[in-house]
Amino acid sequence: MPMQYSQRMKNILVLGGTGFVGAHVCEQLVRAGWTITVPTRRRVNAQAIQHLPGLTVLELDVHDQAALTRAVAGHTAVVNLVAILHGSAQAFERAHVQLAEKLAQACIANGVAHLVQISALGADPAHRETAPSRYLRSKSAAEAVLVQALAEQPAMRLSVLRPSVIFGANDKFLNVFAALQAVFPFIPLAGADARFQPVWVCDVAQAVVRVLALPPGNEQVRTWELVGPQVLRLRELVQLAGVLSGAGGGRGRPVFGLPMWLARIQAFLMELAPGAPMMSRDNLDSMRLDNVANAHMPGLAQLGIHAAALEPVASSYLRSAAAPR
Ligand SMILES: NC(=O)c1ccc[n+]([C@@H]2O[C@H](COP(=O)([O-])OP(=O)(O)OC[C@H]3O[C@@H](n4cnc5c(N)ncnc54)[C@H](OP(=O)(O)O)[C@@H]3O)[C@@H](O)[C@H]2O)c1
Repeated sequence: MPMQYSQRMKNILVLGGTGFVGAHVCEQLVRAGWTITVPTRRRVNAQAIQHLPGLTVLELDVHDQAALTRAVAGHTAVVNLVAILHGSAQAFERAHVQLAEKLAQACIANGVAHLVQISALGADPAHRETAPSRYLRSKSAAEAVLVQALAEQPAMRLSVLRPSVIFGANDKFLNVFAALQAVFPFIPLAGADARFQPVWVCDVAQAVVRVLALPPGNEQVRTWELVGPQVLRLRELVQLAGVLSGAGGGRGRPVFGLPMWLARIQAFLMELAPGAPMMSRDNLDSMRLDNVANAHMPGLAQLGIHAAALEPVASSYLRSAAAPR
């Protein structure tokens, strides 16, 4: 009989559980009967999830190997959602690759049965040196590090989930495009022709719950690509965000694609502004690869999830995003 988690064993550590996707993952794990620990750099970041029953927030530096190993103790499974979207090569290396190394060691030391790594569409251990952006190279390297570290631990399982861009009520994607169109009469857009296959945050969270419930198969490492049913260019997504939010009298604002040289100047200037840039040169580099699923990889359907279409979901939350019409 394949091993399943008994109720006693359903203790899970969720790194990055305070983030946009992590909060949904925590909600759905609680519903599925898991007891959760969420480490965070600052307790205040966990406000949106700390009310969940059976969830404990732990203020912790996850980059401290000893502290991380102690935090992992007592958990049968771990999910890693920690990631950054912007930063230096060193920052990507630390947040994605070095953390993956430390996490693998902590899991091995504690005999964790199942590690779930939230990666990104376009990542691939074979492309850790050659992927077009720091983000994708470091996400690829993180996968490679985990595969290698767990290779000598046959009792441990690794599940890698690679989502396309994720939409949902608190996303920093369609909401930003809607908010911009509430203010500006037209949108100069970098990477306008890049293709995406947006996936709903609740489907991604449900995928985490489902892979945790799968009986162990013959493969120690399994990878899923998580995408929605539609392939859309960035230009179309921006226009849709404008229309659904009611900007420009319900027609959205005109969108002008920028040539790459101008897009890089725009991204460079955004990087100089305080706070997280809306678009960085590294984001532009990521968009050189189409962000769409490879038909040969398993995805949401194989996990028994019917992927939600973008428009009905996004219209429900974007309508309130844009103020002036
Ligand atoms: N959002 C998308 O469209 C998308 C698309 C594809 C893949 N993904 C992947 O999905 C996962 C979750 O993404 P998200 O959008 O939910 O991200 P997010 O909202 O930015 O959350 C990231 C989490 O990582 C933690 N974190 C950030 N920087 C850290 C650092 N330097 N050291 C330690 N912890 C750090 C934060 O925790 P504290 O602040 O509490 O410490 C936060 O909870 C990531 O792996 C991301 O690559 C996301």
